[in-house]
Amino acid sequence: MTAPLTIAIDGPSGSGKSSVARAVAQRLGVGYLDTGAMYRALAWWCLAQGIDLEDRLAVAEAAAGYPLELSTDPEHVTVSVGGTDVTRAIREADVTAAVTAVATNRDVRPVLQEAQRRLMAQTAERTGGVVAEGRDITTVVAPDARVRVLLTASEEARLRRRSTELHGSADAAAVEATRDQVVRRDRADSTVSAFTEAAEGVVLVDTSDLDLDESIEAVLDVVATATESER
Ligand code: DC
Repeated sequence: MTAPLTIAIDGPSGSGKSSVARAVAQRLGVGYLDTGAMYRALAWWCLAQGIDLEDRLAVAEAAAGYPLELSTDPEHVTVSVGGTDVTRAIREADVTAAVTAVATNRDVRPVLQEAQRRLMAQTAERTGGVVAEGRDITTVVAPDARVRVLLTASEEARLRRRSTELHGSADAAAVEATRDQVVRRDRADSTVSAFTEAAEGVVLVDTSDLDLDESIEAVLDVVATATESER
């Protein structure tokens, strides 16, 4: 029997990793795990419960017990907490602003990392594989994944993409309005995870000059090469 096809993808915001990881999972017929959604859902839960985000231990305690339901089906990605569908709410500005405090909390990270390992194993067992994406999947959560990719793009390309996503345009004003969110958040996140340079054995895919379809093909090529070379 061959081992499950575990694929780890890391990258900064705007690198395209969520869209690419989901599409790669669909194309390969395996599960998909958005680990950023777990940090976002925890931030949403803390805001909803009135838990002080600066209270490190209270947030870590919440991480160990929050009632998260995360689908790992790449065709239907949904996130619920305590029965409330938060799929959209966790992308809103208030959660996006709050999530940095949660993701840089060093008492929270090991709790969510362990939950992510469990979810990856369960999903892989059920579907024959899993594509997990985040900031520390190639290095901490699943350094033993069969395929490990760091997706990058120039700051300019990342700002352009996020700006179009958030404001429907990439004109100068929209890009400026996006800059703080992307650059500040990545800087804060970099203090706890190494996702700006590929670790040993991690394949770098630069999507600056690639559109979505080309980025998906580029990652599928890495998967094909990595699995071929195992034979
Ligand atoms: O990828 P995203 O924007 O949905 O991630 C939300 C936040 O969680 C962001 O601040 C980065 C952080 N994150 C993390 O620290 N580790 C991960 N594995 C995934 C996301």
